[in-house]
Amino acid sequence: MIGATSAIAEHCCRLWVQRGSVELILVARNVELAGRIAADLRARGGQAEISVETLDFLSAPAIAAAVARWTAEDPVDLALIAHGVLSPQQPCQDDIEQARYSIEVNGVSPVLFAEAFAGAMSRVGRGTIGMIGSVAGDRGRRANYVYGASKALMDRYAQGLQHRFAGTGVKIVLIKPGPTDTPMTAQYKAQGRRLASVESVAQGTVDALERGTPVAYLPRKWQLIMFVVRALPDFIFNRLNI
Ligand SMILES: NC(=O)c1ccc[n+]([C@@H]2O[C@H](COP(=O)([O-])OP(=O)(O)OC[C@H]3O[C@@H](n4cnc5c(N)ncnc54)[C@H](OP(=O)(O)O)[C@@H]3O)[C@@H](O)[C@H]2O)c1
Repeated sequence: MIGATSAIAEHCCRLWVQRGSVELILVARNVELAGRIAADLRARGGQAEISVETLDFLSAPAIAAAVARWTAEDPVDLALIAHGVLSPQQPCQDDIEQARYSIEVNGVSPVLFAEAFAGAMSRVGRGTIGMIGSVAGDRGRRANYVYGASKALMDRYAQGLQHRFAGTGVKIVLIKPGPTDTPMTAQYKAQGRRLASVESVAQGTVDALERGTPVAYLPRKWQLIMFVVRALPDFIFNRLNI
């Protein structure tokens, strides 16, 4: 589990440990929090084997070395890449260093993890890579286009991986949540915006990973909403304040 302190990731792990014997590696930058999550998961699922690891999420050599170590003895069945930061748009416009950080954390880093797992899974011919993108990647909007562009990068990347592994035992699943009640959206919640429950999005994520669904909008209504948003002609879209 990459980005294991994410609320969506944590709730996926809760579902997995309930199923009995499972081995999880929680990979997070905040080891203290990940350690607390691991203790909670052990209490929920008596037979789960859980360890905690940390590394620099922006370092390609560190990611390559860690994935090589995790996959050296036994193949990894599933890698869920969940980390991300909802970088506000204005600071990204005011300071391009913020924009760089957003694109690296939300786009480049997940791709590096996925590519490292793809190499390991291609050698054994099986495995599932899940990546948490966002509906924000479907169309650039003035309100969040730096974050959206980094999620769109993940979109096109996952599409390419799906093409690469078509007809093999390696599955690539791109999860696209709509606004979901997690620490990331605390300010939206305070503004009274409707958010999907983290439990329902985690359940949808686990189900999509199990089925190998190429792209899963969660909740499902977002598939239709984003179809309409993508289909709007620019001359209408550019007048909308969304
Ligand atoms: N919540 C939503 O409405 C929503 C909607 C669409 C997509 N998503 C996506 O869903 C995924 C999970 O988010 P969430 O909703 O579960 O939010 P969350 O609980 O705030 O989790 C965000 C995770 O990203 C990690 N992270 C942030 N910056 C990092 C960095 N520089 N290096 C390493 N890890 C970093 C955080 O680690 P720390 O604990 O160390 O901060 C945390 O584990 C993200 O990819 C997010 O973009 C969420």
